[in-house]
Amino acid sequence: MVVKRPPMGWNSWNTFADKIDENIVRTMADVMVDEGYLAAGYEYLVIDDCWSLRERDAQGRIVPNPEKFPNGMKAVADYVHSKGLKFGIYSCVGNYTCAGFPGSFEYEFIDAQTFAEWGVDFLKLDYCYKPVSEQGAKLYRRMALALDNCGRDILLSACSWGADETHRWIKSTGSSMWRSTGDVFDKWSSIRDIYNIQKGIYEYNGAGCFNDMDMLVVGMYGKGHVGLEQGLTLEEYRTHFSIWSFFGSPLMMGSDIRSADDDIKAILQNRDVIALDQDSAYRQPYNVNGDPDVWARHMDNGDIVLAIFNMGDNGRGYFIPFSELGLGRASGRGLEIRNLWTGENLGVKKELITGGVNAHETVLLRCKVVEVG
Ligand code: GLA
Repeated sequence: MVVKRPPMGWNSWNTFADKIDENIVRTMADVMVDEGYLAAGYEYLVIDDCWSLRERDAQGRIVPNPEKFPNGMKAVADYVHSKGLKFGIYSCVGNYTCAGFPGSFEYEFIDAQTFAEWGVDFLKLDYCYKPVSEQGAKLYRRMALALDNCGRDILLSACSWGADETHRWIKSTGSSMWRSTGDVFDKWSSIRDIYNIQKGIYEYNGAGCFNDMDMLVVGMYGKGHVGLEQGLTLEEYRTHFSIWSFFGSPLMMGSDIRSADDDIKAILQNRDVIALDQDSAYRQPYNVNGDPDVWARHMDNGDIVLAIFNMGDNGRGYFIPFSELGLGRASGRGLEIRNLWTGENLGVKKELITGGVNAHETVLLRCKVVEVG
């Protein structure tokens, strides 16, 4: 299957880890629909690690833990589908998952068949306990081949954390997204580190196989499995969401959206910012004026989006001459500019824009090319 836009959804790991069960999945499905997340584009509900028993059954099939999923996985998938959502599950290319449950190594075809029978639409495939003699590329290709032949469209989400130069081989595998960094945590330095790694590999992102920067921590505020201390500030969560969206990462929420307040919902459901993530052109971003934190990306409809990420601990300025964006004086064109986080219309600028950005803040400007005479 060819996936044209970065997948969006919710994944259980960041908040629940091994405390995941059928009741939580059902409640999350309800919340995704009732609170407007599905309407904003979040369509996959994904159960991460720790959903199965420690042993396979006599036929070699993986078995959902009956204490957590007393009605089996098909019933869960049916409920998720009944809400208009898609259903995702988790396994691993190795002998075990990262939390020590059965992995899919040498069970790829039987697992793909089982997942298809349950109605799975999305498979996150981790990289723990991979036999050292096996190449990651070969194992992801093997599962993709099994999925391609299981009779159901199941999106493959590779999770090898960028290890073994994943970017060099992932597009040979049939994965539709690939974890390009290690695990995210709900602290500022984690967001900053993932951004810095992305600076070296964003060229590999594109329709069909998206760089996955890991699940969102927006709204965790230090709670849950990857929550640390106080988590991020609201401003920092905005920056986190801006980076993921500007670079076109899958947007998989990880916080407990049952208790998201209006400020957090306003981030996760900001249609203008989500539209950057979901832009159909996927043109590569580029740095403006050689500044490593000032970026431009040209959109499918002819607009230009400018992003200024202030990852530093002091305020900073920016200065963007439009000639850097392809609009010289001879063009007779300027930019009509809107700030996507404040909603403020900055009017038409002829030759350049300047401004300031607070510490840890992001400014996102969507610019329409207009005649200026
Ligand atoms: C790895 C992955 C995480 C999560 C856990 C589950 O660390 O990178 O996203 O799936 O395993 O054990």
